[in-house]
Amino acid sequence: MRRQSPTSFAVVDLGTASNKVLVTALSQGRLQYRAHAVRPSAGLKKGLVLNVATAAEALRQLIAQVETSNGQTIEKIVMSITGGHIRGVVRQAGMTLHSRSRDITADDVRRVLDLAQNQPWPEDYSLLHVEQQEFALDRQSGVHQSPIGMSASRLEARVFHIGAGAGAMQNRVTAANHAGLAVAELMYAPLAAAEACLRHEEREMGVALVDIGAGCTSLIIYAHQAPQHVGVIPIGGDHYTNDLAISFHTPPADAERIKRAFGVVDAASAGDRTQIEFPGVGEQAQSTLSHRDLCDCLRSRAAEWLRLLENDLDKSGWRHHLGAGLVLTGGGARLGGLLELTQASLRLPVRLGIPALIEGAPDELAAPEFAFLTGATFRSHSFHVRQPAPPSRWARILQKLDALD
Ligand SMILES: Nc1ncnc2c1ncn2[C@@H]1O[C@H](COP(=O)(O)OP(=O)(O)OP(=O)(O)O)[C@@H](O)[C@H]1O
Ligand SMILES: [Mg+2]
Repeated sequence: MRRQSPTSFAVVDLGTASNKVLVTALSQGRLQYRAHAVRPSAGLKKGLVLNVATAAEALRQLIAQVETSNGQTIEKIVMSITGGHIRGVVRQAGMTLHSRSRDITADDVRRVLDLAQNQPWPEDYSLLHVEQQEFALDRQSGVHQSPIGMSASRLEARVFHIGAGAGAMQNRVTAANHAGLAVAELMYAPLAAAEACLRHEEREMGVALVDIGAGCTSLIIYAHQAPQHVGVIPIGGDHYTNDLAISFHTPPADAERIKRAFGVVDAASAGDRTQIEFPGVGEQAQSTLSHRDLCDCLRSRAAEWLRLLENDLDKSGWRHHLGAGLVLTGGGARLGGLLELTQASLRLPVRLGIPALIEGAPDELAAPEFAFLTGATFRSHSFHVRQPAPPSRWARILQKLDALD
């Protein structure tokens, strides 16, 4: 098998339910699909690696599968991260340029961004991402583009930091290392998904990208083209499955199958007369329940999820500034009627986030659970090539600074 070529990139979504990998390559300046694979994950709970050895083994099998179809070994990956330990904070820094106004240089911008960036996190946290929010010139805020060439005597920058628990980060990296992989970067899952699913005007107007995974729901709010808030809710798609398994005494695999085939959270679409068979556990007899029973069970979990989502949006201070509403990604967003229920409860527009397809990619990747893979690929490539999705403003400013060197 050939070694990983320097122009090929592998992005891995290490999830609570499944691991997914996408391999792409740069060919004549264009980003092209090479291979992908999806396999069940192991050793994770609520987005956290709890058993490094089993997580590593599942990852090793995933990589072996994609290597076989691509004919190249994978040595280095970009990997997702989520979980309740994720935090976001706004950091600010400023400096006087001169007693009188003068033109702002690339070096000034680099220095003020460094000042804003180099502020410490608590010891058990590490910085994941630094995203530029805005500049202020002579204390006049709201400059969202690069201020290079503008005039001022004082320059300030506001950046949004996304940090993660150091232990949670290390466990992901260790699992990858045990599977023979180096981790080039960890990316907060919704930040990457946003790159693949959000439209320019949505990021401007205010939008929450809500990634409903198996173990948790993680979100990011954008406004004025920049991240403003991140949050994680400890409920994901697997909670619905577990509720069905426990309430109707059926094995989790059957509960999952029934949820996907018949699950709806909207009581109005539940047919009273439709009967659903729930296999029993072991020797237990199967039971037959109405579609309405199934729907009621899912709906009460959805109500709890909505309450927590609403609380997080309230806490962020952005709930009433989401002009473009919510975009749902992750496999959990496929639950029947969840989109409509969210829209009605929050009184906000809600749509499904379908990632743009990379050239040559199969149609099956245009699905909400693959948003991370596509978005992380766009982000990783954004320093090398123009993408179908616009690179983040932060990336564009850094590119401009590099070009001036
Ligand atoms: N058709 C469907 N209807 C309802 N739920 C679904 C459907 N398809 C997938 N799901 C749910 O989506 C979840 C898996 O989504 P996803 O692959 O995004 O999670 P993950 O990335 O493995 O988990 P996490 O991000 O929490 O670590 C599972 O809980 C699964 O039950
Ligand atoms: Mg996920």
